[in-house]
Parts: sequence; C-alpha cells; structure tokens
Amino acid sequence: MSNERAQWDGNFAFLMAMIGSAVGLGNIWRFPYIFYTNGSGSFMIPYIIAIVVLGLSFLILEYALGFKYKTSILNILRKVKDKFQILGWLVLCIIFLICSYYVCIVGWDLIYLVLSFVKGWGADPNAFFSNSVLHASDLTSSMLSVVPVVLVSTFVVWLTTWYISHRDLNDGVSKFSKIAVPLLGILDVVIVVFALTLPGAGVGLTQMFSPSWDALLDTNIWLAAFGQVMFSLSLGMAIAMTYASYLPKKANLTKNIVTVICANSGFEVFNAVGIFSILGFMAMTTALPFSEVITDGTGLAFIAFPEVFNLMGVGGNILGPIFFLCIFIAGLTSIIALVEPMSSSLSDKFGFSRQKSVTIVCGIGFLVSLLFTSQYGSTILTIFDAFLNNCALVACIILECLVFGWFFDMDSLKEIVNRNTLFKVGNWWKLLIKIILPIILFILLVSGIVSTVLTGDTITLIVEAILVVVLIVAPCVLYYLTKVFGVERRHAN
Ligand code: PFF
Repeated sequence: MSNERAQWDGNFAFLMAMIGSAVGLGNIWRFPYIFYTNGSGSFMIPYIIAIVVLGLSFLILEYALGFKYKTSILNILRKVKDKFQILGWLVLCIIFLICSYYVCIVGWDLIYLVLSFVKGWGADPNAFFSNSVLHASDLTSSMLSVVPVVLVSTFVVWLTTWYISHRDLNDGVSKFSKIAVPLLGILDVVIVVFALTLPGAGVGLTQMFSPSWDALLDTNIWLAAFGQVMFSLSLGMAIAMTYASYLPKKANLTKNIVTVICANSGFEVFNAVGIFSILGFMAMTTALPFSEVITDGTGLAFIAFPEVFNLMGVGGNILGPIFFLCIFIAGLTSIIALVEPMSSSLSDKFGFSRQKSVTIVCGIGFLVSLLFTSQYGSTILTIFDAFLNNCALVACIILECLVFGWFFDMDSLKEIVNRNTLFKVGNWWKLLIKIILPIILFILLVSGIVSTVLTGDTITLIVEAILVVVLIVAPCVLYYLTKVFGVERRHAN
C-alpha cells in the first residue's frame, strides 16, 4: 500500500497545530498555581532558563528528527537501532494512556460548559462537582459503577476528536487548528480584559508580581520550572516529531520553534494575569486570604471558578461559558495532537490508511477511558496523571536524550537545522542533549518518584505497579507484533 506522507498546506497550519498541542490544560490551570507556590515573580528566572535549556534544545531535537526523516517515531528509532523501537512504543503507550484520561477531563469541562449558561452547579460547587458530576466514591468496588453523564461527555469528546483527526491532514487537523487556536487567543483576551476590570483584581496582581528572591535557592523551585516546561510544551510525546514530519522541504525550523515557545509561554503568563485577577476578586469578596483561594487543576476550574461566577451576578453567565469554552478548545487541540503520533505510527508500521488508524486509536482509547468514567474514576485518574507525567514521561525523555545523543549522528541533524535558520545550533546543543538534560531530568525523575510513588497509599501503589507492568509488557508485545505483521515484514517476503 502506498503511504505517501501528507504535507501541511502552509507554515501557518503547522504553527497553529503546534501551538494548539502545547497550549492545553497545563497552561490554564497548572501554570498559575505552580507560579504562585514557587516564588511568584521570581519564578520567571528558573522558568526562562528551563525554557532555553530544556524546551528549546529538546524541541530542536524533535523537530529536526521529524523534519529530516519524514516518518513516525518508530521508524526514526529503527534507523538508530532496530530494538530502540521498543522505546518508541513505550512513548506511544504513555501518550495513549495520558490521552485516555485527558479526554475524560475535557468531558467534565464539556458538562460545565453546558451548565455555565445557567450556573447549573448551584450554590455549593464543591459538593456539586464530587456528588452530582463525578458521583465520587472511595470504595474500590465503585469502579464498576459508570457515571452516565461522564460516559456520554467522554464519548462526545472522543467522537469530536475522531471526526477531526480521521480526515485528511489539511481537511481536518489543519483546518481545525487554523480556526480554533486564534479563537482561543481571542477568547482569552476577553477573559483577561474582563478580569482586570473586576474589583479586587489588584489584590491578585500584587500577589502575582511580588517576587520572593530567597525561593531561588530552593532546588524544588528549579525542578518545578523544568516540570512545567516539560508538561506545557508537551515534550517527549513525539508530537513535534510527527507534526514536523509533515513540513515541506523549505522550512525554517528554529524560527518555528521560537514562535511556538513564545506563543505558549506568552499564553500562560497572560492567562495567569486573568486568573490572578479573578482570584483577587474572590479573595476580596469573601474576605479570605489569597493563599486560601488559589488552587489548581479541577479544584480551580470546577470548584473555585464556579464559586467566582456565582459571586459575579450576570457577568458570571457570560464569563463562565467563555472560560469553559477556552478549556474545551485548549484541551481538544492537545488531544488531537496526542492522537497524531499514534495514528501516524500505526499507518507507518501496518500500512493502514489514516482513517483506519485514527478509528483504531479513538475506538480503543474510548474503551480505556471507561476506566475513568466510573465513580472511582477520578481517583484512578489522579494516580495515572501523577505517575505518567512525573515518572514515566520523564524517564522516556531521558532515554530519548541518551539514544539520540549517544547512538546517533547529531552532527547530521545540526547541519539540517543550520541550513535555514534563525540562529546557528552549535556544540552547546549536543552537550545539552547528551549530558546536561539527562542529569537534570534524572534529578526530576528521582523527585517525581519520591513524591508520587514513595508517598502513595496502598491503592496508589497497586495502580502504579500495574502501570509499570503494562508499560514494560505492552511495548515489547507491540514491537514483536510489528515484526510479525508489520509492513517491513510483508515487504521482506
Ligand atoms: N501541553 C498540553 C498541556 O499543557 O495541557 C498538553 C499536555 C501535556 C497534555 C501533558 C497531556 C499531558 F499529560
């Protein structure tokens, strides 16, 4: 079967898809909290250093590999050494699991998007979220009780993803990104401008811009900065590699990378101005100290913000839908980006059409998502999220640095990047990939293991142990399946 590689219908489409992949829930609900709890204004220093050391150098690697070889992560790793494909399958398994719970969170957001027009969460958003949306239960037996509304919303998000991704690249991902990403930017500007006019906005902004310089001596703050950059730029997930593989021959890689990094960080810092202003309004209205109103993740989006919208009167009926729509768009563009490396790999390895690969990924993905739609789902989701992001993904990025840094001719990549570039990539880049990043990320991994594995309760440890087994067995099985059924084998015969 001929699998002619698709090509973006212009650099703008590529940029929008890349920015869409990076701007996600991490930018909206993770960054403000990480920023606040790690020294506020002074956090900008480790953050900018982490962007250059980790974000820039690793993205150059991912872009250049995809751009040079115009194929999936599996085939790229195969060129280095056949068995290294197991690492590729490991990356794909991790992003598959991340995607399967991320869809569920976007599904919760969809429920809130609908409710927000009438503030359907009532006077007690905290109780509403855990009792009426999640039906959360501590009993492991509740794993079998599916929550219908979460099931339906999760299905709708998978279906939307399938609808966009199964079309040809330029008819689906490209078209959607070119509309959704600018729209996300516009909606965010509306939120921030509105937030700045709220009484008490100054309280939040004072908190945001007051630096705590002593914090810079704390290693945890540096680790938090590297963790945020890794998460926010979706590093190590083979997204940049896959999207760059669809670039035409004449593309300025470094210019694109710098644009994506600036857009992603610009979005998260700008958006944080809005979040801090809104939380300042909340602190003032409820007479609570700011440190008690700030939170992150689902607590921020589905509890604190509905409380704020309740305090706002009619303004809340307008700002609420815009806020949940922003989360929906940011989440959906990231999900679409997570699907791409998986579907592109299936097509490359088994010769499937794009439609077939996307249908397989979304179909099996939905089945795995069922795990998170039960009454026990949010507990499992939290364990998956912490383990996959703090441990598994970090380990993968270390391995990717080591494989490409030590077993691959990095000079050939340097030459490709430097052919048409904003700035020259020198030996500093090789040094970062081969030695410095693996060391920094190893420290991040150890701290991740300490915080997520060693401090976990029994259930957490059991789920993590299952994940470890799955992440060892599944990539090996998939590797052997491609040996038996893959296109290379068929071509060899
Ligand atoms: N970079 C995106 C975000 O900040 O939400 C996408 C993403 C990152 C998705 C990490 C999933 C994930 F685990």
